[in-house]
Amino acid sequence: MASLGDAAPFCCCWWWCSSRAVAAAADMAGDRAALLALRDALRLPGKSLRGAVPVGTVGNLTALRTLSLRTNAISGGIPADIGGCVQLRSLNLSGNRLAGRGLFSLALLEKVDLSGNRLTGGVSPEFSRLASLTTLNLDRNGFDGTLPGNLTLPKLARFNVSYNGQLGGAVPASLAGMPASAFLGTSLCGAPLAPGAVPVGTVGNLTALRTLSLRTNAISGRLPEGLFSLALLEKVDLSGNRLTGGVSPEFSRLASLTTLNLDRNGFNGTLPGNLMLPKLAQFNVSYNGQLGGAVPASLTGMPASAFLGTALCGGPLAPCANPSPPSPGGSKGVREEEEDRRERCHEKCNCRMRPEETQSCRAKFQNRLAAFNRHHMN
Ligand SMILES: *[C@@H]1O[C@H](CO)[C@@H](O)[C@H](O)[C@H]1NC(C)=O
Ligand SMILES: *[C@@H]1O[C@H](CO)[C@@H](O)[C@H](O)[C@H]1NC(C)=O
Ligand SMILES: *[C@@H]1O[C@H](CO)[C@@H](O)[C@H](O)[C@H]1NC(C)=O
Ligand SMILES: *[C@@H]1O[C@H](CO)[C@@H](O)[C@H](O)[C@H]1NC(C)=O
Ligand SMILES: *[C@@H]1O[C@H](CO)[C@@H](O)[C@H](O)[C@H]1NC(C)=O
Ligand SMILES: *[C@@H]1O[C@H](CO)[C@@H](O)[C@H](O)[C@H]1NC(C)=O
Ligand SMILES: *[C@@H]1O[C@H](CO)[C@@H](O)[C@H](O)[C@H]1NC(C)=O
Repeated sequence: MASLGDAAPFCCCWWWCSSRAVAAAADMAGDRAALLALRDALRLPGKSLRGAVPVGTVGNLTALRTLSLRTNAISGGIPADIGGCVQLRSLNLSGNRLAGRGLFSLALLEKVDLSGNRLTGGVSPEFSRLASLTTLNLDRNGFDGTLPGNLTLPKLARFNVSYNGQLGGAVPASLAGMPASAFLGTSLCGAPLAPGAVPVGTVGNLTALRTLSLRTNAISGRLPEGLFSLALLEKVDLSGNRLTGGVSPEFSRLASLTTLNLDRNGFNGTLPGNLMLPKLAQFNVSYNGQLGGAVPASLTGMPASAFLGTALCGGPLAPCANPSPPSPGGSKGVREEEEDRRERCHEKCNCRMRPEETQSCRAKFQNRLAAFNRHHMN
């Protein structure tokens, strides 16, 4: 796979030696010397230029400030010798067929538009070297992986990675101020995008479902819409997400439930007093720090470890009259903390995960959701 980090092979012809090049292109070939003397701007938008840019052409334009070859049919790589255009402020290679590399040494660059090419691989953290960048358009390419977490471009005002379908993970904090429309058609999540809720209408129609396991993902918001109409459900595992709101009394509608794991989320309020689940054998609401009040009578038979890291009291826990003990969170070992951190995919949307973790996490979620849909939707 070609990427911004790979050298792309050049074929030997740009506009002058392509026998199929249009007349305008042939004219350009005739006056190479004039081309090299250019000081200010070279703009050749939509001239049907074809083929690869040969080494020794662009790199000699050392005085050039603007290079626009947008909307042509140039292929091969971002000109490998583009590093010679040391005065370049603006580069528009949008709408070509480029794959390749080579512009991170151009410290004066202010505008880079590589949209609508066939660039693949990761978005390089080396873009951070272009400290003057105000515009960076990478939309409509084949970039994949995650955005570099450490992309620091203090002057960046316009950024676009829309329609790079394989790009996922969290939007890095440094780009959270960009509009959501800068990230269309990607699998990115986190501000300014939604943290990743289960889409409405995904769960509610699966009326024959007996097991619903979406544990350790990045699912946020309230409990999945339609969950309580799945009357045959026996096992529900939503642990390790970032679900919020109350633990609904509607769980009582799932009369066949034997397992209900809601641990490691952001549920709050109290547990419903009237939760009636006659078959329930496994229950867990641990590590929902905002959950408090008394353990309801119907759950007092559960072990204390079902209620770790909450402010609940009574039942297997200390009686409610006493002040509740401090959250076990504080006394957890470092390794356990780290494991928790890694396991909780939602962290990625807070950008506290490393990019590799974020990516595998997101991929896992999407694979699972896809498999889940395949199995249950048809
Ligand atoms: C471009 O510069 C290289 C050296 O960097 C030189 O060898 C070459 O002749 C130059 N090309 C032209 C057309 O001037
Ligand atoms: C580059 O060219 C494209 C396509 O013609 C245009 O829409 C875009 O605004 C240009 N980018 C910049 C940064 O000027
Ligand atoms: C940014 O992160 C990448 C890995 O994602 C690393 O290779 C690079 O050295 C980092 N750059 C800086 C400036 O920290
Ligand atoms: C990003 O580019 C897409 C087209 O590729 C466009 O629809 C969207 O409005 C652009 N967003 C921004 C913030 O420029
Ligand atoms: C679920 O069922 C409703 C009608 O009850 C329908 O409108 C909707 O399209 C269905 N969703 C899916 C994903 O099939
Ligand atoms: C629970 O959190 C939600 C926000 O997620 C908030 O609106 C609600 O008031 C909270 N409820 C309680 C009982 O704290
Ligand atoms: C509940 O889940 C926590 C981890 O979130 C685990 O430490 C605990 O042992 C579990 N307890 C039960 C009863 O499943």
